[in-house]
Amino acid sequence: MAANKPTTTRNPKFRLIAVSHKYKLSSSNYSKRTFYKAVMIKINQKIEQSLNHKTECLILPCLEVKKPTGLLKEIDDNLQGAVSAAIKNKRFSGKPNQTLLLNSTGSNILLLGLGKAKEVTAEKIRQAAATAVKVLEKSKFKSVAADLSAFESLGKGKSGRYGELAGAVAEGAGLALYHFDNYKSKDEDDPSIRLEKLTLLTTSKTQKTAVEKSIARAEKIVNAVHVARDLISHPGNTVTPTYLAEHAKKMARKNKITCKVLGKKEMEKLGMGSLLGVAQGSDEPPALIVLEYNGAAKKKAPTVIVGKGITFDTGGISLKPGGGMDEMKMDMSGSATTLATLELVASLKLKVNVVGIVAAAENMPSGSAIKPGDILKSMSGKTIEVLNTDAEGRLVLADALTYAQRYNPKEVIDLATLTGAVLHALGHQAAAVIGNNPAMIQKLKDAGEATGERVWELPLWEEHEKATKSDIADLKNIASPGVGAGTTMGAAFLKPFAGDQPWTHIDIAGTAWGFDRPYTNKGASGFGVRLLLNYLEKTH
Ligand code: BES
Ligand code: MN
Ligand code: ZN
Repeated sequence: MAANKPTTTRNPKFRLIAVSHKYKLSSSNYSKRTFYKAVMIKINQKIEQSLNHKTECLILPCLEVKKPTGLLKEIDDNLQGAVSAAIKNKRFSGKPNQTLLLNSTGSNILLLGLGKAKEVTAEKIRQAAATAVKVLEKSKFKSVAADLSAFESLGKGKSGRYGELAGAVAEGAGLALYHFDNYKSKDEDDPSIRLEKLTLLTTSKTQKTAVEKSIARAEKIVNAVHVARDLISHPGNTVTPTYLAEHAKKMARKNKITCKVLGKKEMEKLGMGSLLGVAQGSDEPPALIVLEYNGAAKKKAPTVIVGKGITFDTGGISLKPGGGMDEMKMDMSGSATTLATLELVASLKLKVNVVGIVAAAENMPSGSAIKPGDILKSMSGKTIEVLNTDAEGRLVLADALTYAQRYNPKEVIDLATLTGAVLHALGHQAAAVIGNNPAMIQKLKDAGEATGERVWELPLWEEHEKATKSDIADLKNIASPGVGAGTTMGAAFLKPFAGDQPWTHIDIAGTAWGFDRPYTNKGASGFGVRLLLNYLEKTH
């Protein structure tokens, strides 16, 4: 029984408001389950007026400075030289993510460093915006505004990067203010104050239009990442394979996506002995969730995204140690990313064909569980000697990857919290990518740089593949002791199931949880959603 009824998730009430001088827009584009709203309200046009805009605190993004000029100078004059003093005393110089909160009666201002003009990127802005709203939330502000005039000088053309960078503010702030308090009872005395409103101040109609568009997009992106974070954050007694399947069906119904769920019987018919082997130790029935989004011509080969959906990984009979085992509720992060990406791609109406396949099961030790030494027959016909029941991710993925071949895919990407070893290799900074197509990997690396969801390639050589051969079956699910290269060996096992088309395995065990960015929080990051969106947009 689930501890709480998993019907709704409580998300931050955070609203984002673009402000322009002329236009008052109705609230028609309020969407129901979003974290902030894009609305236009009336405000004076002049830039100086942003100082007078009624807000608890004005965020003022600044490039690196040696002495206050422009708006900063005005503020300095208003605050009796507080800014120049801070610069002089090295308390503020505009370095990336540096903040300085200036308090004075009636006008709180947060100076926010963006670094050097030449080095400003969308990712830097996301991080800076995230840093700012976190500082302000800690300082108990509820409603703040940001002046975007620093973006006016950046990039080519009149409104060159203004819209893009405003979007990055919205994305970074929206991501940073995620809180998962679904299971906390409402406590009237709870002193925690949440930042609920961020107003972006614009000074022209062109800017307003650009910002409005960027906010609408950022809203969808943040929403999708938060869908993934919610799914990952819920405990294993809420998010079961059945829950994932129900979520997928509901999500598909709301979007232009078709959804099919294969249960145990259907999987048995297909001979998915590898996935079923993992599931057999649990009372929770497994599910193979298949989502299809057609944004391009039907005959165009799809990109297939495959997600590991182990809703709880105890290790099975090769039981994990008790300490920290609770975190293994996140072992379905690959599937959360897959589901959220499909939803995002559909809501942004990308002109691509994408198939999402989620292999969902729970890995439990029990009288019916698989044992070390057991041999499973996969859907591909290949037999697998299970030498460690804790290497279950590759077992469920093997059958899901075989199933993916039905689509004659253009390319296959699998996402999985597959190995603890990736934490040794890359920590919480990047996911590992391993595949059979260097061009595809390069494109994923580019998408990683653009979104901040970095990926780093590890090799997969013939020698690694040889180390997956079993003495008595076709494959074994772990290599002999001493082979090492844990993350690569996971991929080496998957390769024979992945097909000959371009394929990349992304090991997100170090980034799905505890991803180290200003816009993430302690737990679930939703890593991969923004990466895949960028990849799909750039490659189609
Ligand atoms: N789900 C784990 C990997 C994992 C570890 C995810 C830490 C997130 C954080 C996976 O199923 C697993 O147990 N992998 C084993 C593989 C080993 C038995 C070859 C591991 O990494 O120890
Ligand atoms: Mn495991
Ligand atoms: Zn696992």
